[in-house]
Order: sequence, then structure tokens, then C-alpha cells
Amino acid sequence: MVRIVIEGGQPLQGRVQIAGAKNAALPLLAATLLTGGVHRLHNVPLLRDIRTAKTLLYHLGATFEEGEPLFIHTDTVDSFEAPYDLVKTMRASVLVLGPLLARFKRARVSLPGGCAIGARPINFHLSGLERLGVDIELKHGYVEAVTKRLVGNHIYFDIPTVTGTENLMMAAVLAEGQTVLENAAREPEVVELARCLNEMGACIRGMGTAAITIEGVSQLRPMDHTIMPDRIEAATYLTAAGITKGNITVTPYIPEHLEPVIHKLEQAGMRFELGDQHIRALGGEVIRNIDVTTNPHPGFPTDMQAQIMAMMCLADGQSIITEKVFENRFMHVSELRRMGANISTEGNTAIVRGRSKLQGAPVMATDLRASASLVLAGLAAEGSTEISRVYHLDRGYQKIEEKLRGLGARIKRVKG
Ligand code: EPU
Repeated sequence: MVRIVIEGGQPLQGRVQIAGAKNAALPLLAATLLTGGVHRLHNVPLLRDIRTAKTLLYHLGATFEEGEPLFIHTDTVDSFEAPYDLVKTMRASVLVLGPLLARFKRARVSLPGGCAIGARPINFHLSGLERLGVDIELKHGYVEAVTKRLVGNHIYFDIPTVTGTENLMMAAVLAEGQTVLENAAREPEVVELARCLNEMGACIRGMGTAAITIEGVSQLRPMDHTIMPDRIEAATYLTAAGITKGNITVTPYIPEHLEPVIHKLEQAGMRFELGDQHIRALGGEVIRNIDVTTNPHPGFPTDMQAQIMAMMCLADGQSIITEKVFENRFMHVSELRRMGANISTEGNTAIVRGRSKLQGAPVMATDLRASASLVLAGLAAEGSTEISRVYHLDRGYQKIEEKLRGLGARIKRVKG
């Protein structure tokens, strides 16, 4: 069993390089299925989820030339099935549904099922595809989707869904006529995908707003695209400066992507110096208690809820943290309690009563962002923290121990 062992209590200092965004890379990899040819993707992060996505593309018939950039050959794609083994490992595998339907008019994709942070159905993906003219049947745990031709339509999402918006956008770019996605997700990763699709020859307007308009085109060309920096990885390192009362420079970054998080960290007593390519985060002497409610972008990101909660465990008062995106994203609470945190939950609200200290303890990672919160807690805690099930962390944080060691952390990965 692999564990991460952290000896806490060091203020972290130095500079950290942020990788390409996982949640931008995943839909971009799926988008390579839209047209045959040789695609180039620059700044692809080296992560477990990216390996899973590449395995899925390979299974569909794509081939790769590794390196920077990554070359993806999609002329050879001749399968339309995303099998259960891959979808259960990574639910973002459902992102192949839209592109396969757009190019081949058929797809067979395993239903993802529930996961550690909630039921996470894909009903909005499926009802949206039906409105574009796709016949959908659920058989033996698989979505079987087929269409004679995709025709643009008006689609309203009950809730803004990130991968749902991305799937529908990828299906609609090659549909006949106009598609309007209303109450669409406004996350930067959705905007990044829309921009890349436009570079490929698509005609998308309104990305970054709640109404995205797509005029279908008859063909696309392969992509040559550089992936933006990962805003959640960057925000996690900024929070590391806050929780350890250190001083960390993060580069590169996109200021508007980090605004919802910086706004809260400033309220918590941190200071920031913003450069063109870098941002310097200075932890305050005291961590001030703040209330945080997660919401779709531009609200506070659910992917930072666990990390900010770890920081609030050491605040000088009581914080109320409300999770509004997922129904079950408090798996880290019981692990943080094992480190001495005083947290109670009521439905989707956590009441965190700040303490002056956390103590190192053996803890277990339950999902990607929960794992990051345990790393942050471990960095600030007294004594040794041992985190097991670290594969969750490897899904979304490239070389995390190496990067933290570069900032002065005492952290190592041990086997056995
Ligand atoms: N929802 C439905 N039906 C649907 C789709 C979504 O009820 O058909 C609900 C979900 O259950 C959830 C809400 O709508 O309550 C929003 O979920 P969304 O669809 O936006 O989430 P997602 O697309 O599955 C992406 C990210 C997540 C991130 C969320 C929210 C990727 C690959 N994943 O998931 O990232 O938390 O958006 O911002 O982009 C992570 O990186 O750790 C991660 C979980």
C-alpha cells in the first residue's frame, strides 16, 4: 500500500509551477474524436485521469506520439464503445458520447453509476442529446445512442452541468442548424473547450455566459491547442500558503479564474501580489474565520471546498461551509476530525469551529479534493500524518510531493 507521510508544521515558501488543467484536458482529449487527423495538444498534465482518458481513446482506435506536444491520431478510430471498466474509473469518460455521435452517429457508453461525492447522474446529457435527434436506450448498464442525423435545437439545463454542457457542445458543433444551450455551465474549462472547437472550425458564441449558441458546421480540422493552467491546483497551493502561514508564488495563472478563491482567502487574512504571469500568496498571522458557499462558476468552486475547510479548522472562530453543487461532498470531514478538527455537519452545511492546532494522524483519502484537504491539514498539523489511498491524489495533482518538497515541506511517498 502506498502512503504519503507528512511531518507538519513548516511554513511553506517558494515558487511552484502549475500544470495544465485536468478538467480542460479531459474534454479536449474527447474532442479529438470529432474529426480524423493528427491533433496536437500542448501542456497536457501528467495525471492518472489523463492516462485513463488516453486508454479510452486508444480503446476506440486512436494512437499517440508521446512528448510535448502530445500528438493524437484519430483517423484510425473504429470503435464506439466506452466500457464499464474505464467509465467506473473515471466518470469524465462519458465525454466521448457527444463527439462519437457527432462523427459516427452512434455510441455505446457505460452508465457511470454513483461516486464518492454524490449520485451524479447524466440525465441532462441524455435528454439534451435526445433533443438533437439521438435515440437513446439504456441496456445492460450501457447508454446505447444512435442517430440518423443531428439537428440543432433549444436545450435548457435544469442545473448548469459542466461535462453536460461540454458533451452537448461537442455534439452540436457538427449538427445541422443552430443549437442554443440555456442555463449552460460558465466554468473556464467550458470556455476553453469552446475556444478550441472554434479554432477547429466550429462556430460557437456566448461561451462563458449562460446562453451558448452553436451554428453547426459540416466539418472540422484537427486541433493545435495549448491547455490553460489548472485553477484548482493553483488555488490549492495558494491555500497551502494560508494554512501554513507561508509565502508561495504560483505560476502561471489566469487572474479571473482564481478570483472567487482569492476573494475568500483575503477575507481569511491572506494577502496577494499579482504579477502578469505569477501570483504571490502571503499567509496571515492569524487565519480569520469565513463563511463559504460553493456554487457553479463564478461562485466559489466546489473543487476547493474541502481545502478551504481544512484551513478553517485552524481559524480563530466559527466558519459555516455550505456545499451547493454536490449532495455528498463532506467525506473529508470525518478524516479531518481524526486530526483534531471540530466540525459538525447538518445536511449540506458544515460548522467548523476553529482550533489553534491540528494533530498528525493516519487518515484515508476518499476522493481527489478530499485528499488535497488532508495534505493541507497534514502540512499544518503537529507531528506526522499518513495518508492512504493516495491514488485519488494522483488523479489530479501532478508531482505533488515533489512540488511541496520544493516549497520546504517534509513529505514523502512510502510503499508497503
Ligand atoms: N447533475 C445532474 N444531472 C446531470 C448532470 C449533473 O443531476 O445530467 C448534477 C450533479 O449531480 C451535480 C450538479 O449537477 O449535483 C453539477 O454537476 P456537473 O455535471 O457540473 O459536474 P461534472 O460535470 O460531473 C465537473 C468536474 C468536477 C467538478 C464539477 C463541478 C470534470 C471532468 N469534472 O464534473 O471536477 O467538481 O464539474 O464544478 O470537469 C474534480 O476535478 O475533482 C471534479 C470532481
